[in-house]
Amino acid sequence: MMPATSRTPAVPAAVSLFDLTGKVAVVSGSASGMGKAASLALAAHGATVIMLDRNAAGLEVTAQEIAAAGGRAVARVHDVAEVEEAGRLFTWIDGAFGRVDFLANIAGEGIMTDPLDLTAAQIRTALENLVVGRYALCREAGSRMIRQGGGSIVNTGSLASLTALGRGHVAYSMAMGAVAQMTRELSTEWASRGVRVNAILPAQVMNPGLAERIAADPSIERTWLAGIPRGRLGRPEDIQGLIVLLASDASSWITGALIPMDGGNLAMNAGGSIGGAHAGATR
Ligand SMILES: NC(=O)c1ccc[n+]([C@@H]2O[C@H](COP(=O)([O-])OP(=O)(O)OC[C@H]3O[C@@H](n4cnc5c(N)ncnc54)[C@H](O)[C@@H]3O)[C@@H](O)[C@H]2O)c1
Repeated sequence: MMPATSRTPAVPAAVSLFDLTGKVAVVSGSASGMGKAASLALAAHGATVIMLDRNAAGLEVTAQEIAAAGGRAVARVHDVAEVEEAGRLFTWIDGAFGRVDFLANIAGEGIMTDPLDLTAAQIRTALENLVVGRYALCREAGSRMIRQGGGSIVNTGSLASLTALGRGHVAYSMAMGAVAQMTRELSTEWASRGVRVNAILPAQVMNPGLAERIAADPSIERTWLAGIPRGRLGRPEDIQGLIVLLASDASSWITGALIPMDGGNLAMNAGGSIGGAHAGATR
């Protein structure tokens, strides 16, 4: 038991644990879905958010929502797959903001092809977009964070970082598997220099692409839900708590983690039963 005179600090007020005031956050994919939700949450907690996407109109909408809520954000059209642009982007960030504390690599898109038809060019496109382009942003942000003495990076992976999806996702899964290893390797390289690198692995989170697939084949939603004990698909805002945690000093001892955000999908064996949802469920 602690002596009454212990100098153990009191638990800080909840808001201070996750306060991002003064931090500069770079987020890719801010025009839509999880990148947009992440940008809104980071700004709401005090960060200045540099929002990247190749969709200029979508970026503008996110920027307006953040401004209306009293947050600080700037939008910059940037294609993550154009690797040589990463250096120019961060030179501009150096001049305009002088530091970078957080990078969230969220931009990305699926690619679906029957493996018998999958071409080398399609595999290269998936790798350029999801791995090489993201690596370029990690390298640019990481070098600055090392000079500053600290920072945090989050890469969006997928269930496909660890397991197979089927349904023509071979190239996407190859890339997402690489995202997991990129995260582990960079966290191991940079942890001693104060830079944390983690990944968030979402299950199916509703976005325009998923909505189209459900509209074309409603049975696909039942297939997904059968693997999600929580009983619903993800929503973009489900990423907000994790992103703020990983951007904040509250997660200062968390690095190299691949964190599922999946309603319980990865925990459940493929032949498992969702508790309470099966006729044979025990009480
Ligand atoms: N939605 C899911 O079910 C799910 C599940 C696991 C992983 N993910 C991954 O999470 C990330 C975000 O997914 P989402 O559901 O928010 O998608 P979304 O389609 O709602 O948004 C993706 C955003 O990324 C942008 N983008 C795509 N490629 C880009 C590039 N090369 N350069 C700049 N911007 C680019 C798009 O313009 C779009 O604004 C993606 O990497 C996706 O692969 C999604």
